[in-house]
Amino acid sequence: MGYNLLKGKRGIIFGALDENSIAWKTAQTVHDEGGIFVLTNAPIAMRMGQIDELAKKTGSQIIPADATSVEDLDNLVEKAVEILGGKIDFVLHSIGMSVNVRKGRAYTDEKYDFTAKGWDVSALSFHKVMQSLYKADAMNEWGSIVALTYMAAQRTFPDYNDMADNKAYLESVARSFGYFFGKEKKVRVNTISQSPTATTAGQGVKGFDGFISYAEKMSPLGNATAQDCADYTVTLFSDLTRKVTMQNLFHDGGFSNTGVSQEVIEKF
Ligand code: NAI
Repeated sequence: MGYNLLKGKRGIIFGALDENSIAWKTAQTVHDEGGIFVLTNAPIAMRMGQIDELAKKTGSQIIPADATSVEDLDNLVEKAVEILGGKIDFVLHSIGMSVNVRKGRAYTDEKYDFTAKGWDVSALSFHKVMQSLYKADAMNEWGSIVALTYMAAQRTFPDYNDMADNKAYLESVARSFGYFFGKEKKVRVNTISQSPTATTAGQGVKGFDGFISYAEKMSPLGNATAQDCADYTVTLFSDLTRKVTMQNLFHDGGFSNTGVSQEVIEKF
């Protein structure tokens, strides 16, 4: 492929941990489309992950930032503009983590310190990222900001635990900040609601294998892969979607509008 859809555009990509990460595939695809960017992740994730390899492949610099730290984010925004040589056109927020899930706490047995930490990382961080960009006036007009979410924000998936609540908050922030960013800076803000995807974060959800197979059988087009998500995200970063904003966009092979499929009926 390669349509040069992002030629001349500059961005920040959060959340590439390893080659399975949705952000990793997105960085590669953005690179193929001519965009330039800085990569960022939490300092701890950098020690665990392979982000250096991605940086080399895409000719990018890495700026560590904990997405819950306003100080880190302000520094990231300032450095990104400096390194890339101008204001930012696209941002991908691809961050999620629930401490309750990690520690095996049920939804009915949350430890609220864990809940607050997970919410800060997975949901409030999106507001923090946008507020840093907004206050620094670091976004170009007609820029595009995307965060990744999951349908558990609308419908109950019991094992998704408190991440469901975090995603509902994240989607709301996209609408609320999208209003101000649209009015004042002509910047669009959207969330992509992605199919279950086999990544580190995805596989942390209890019963993930059953979950992903069920979604595959329920979706007329099958599950959207991480690469499909990267491709879709590129369209939202491009100039071809300039009036799409404040939306939660389902990218799930039709899962969200399917009541039941023949394959699932046949299982009974
Ligand atoms: P991943 O595990 O590869 O990516 C999650 C990233 O969040 C990691 O790079 C991690 O280092 C980063 N992160 C965690 N704490 C952070 C912090 N304090 N500051 C900065 N970064 C931090 O997994 P994946 O699946 O690529 O996740 C990306 C996004 O896609 C998440 O928002 C996730 O909820 C969402 N999503 C994933 C689905 C799946 O089934 N994998 C389905 C729908 C949405």
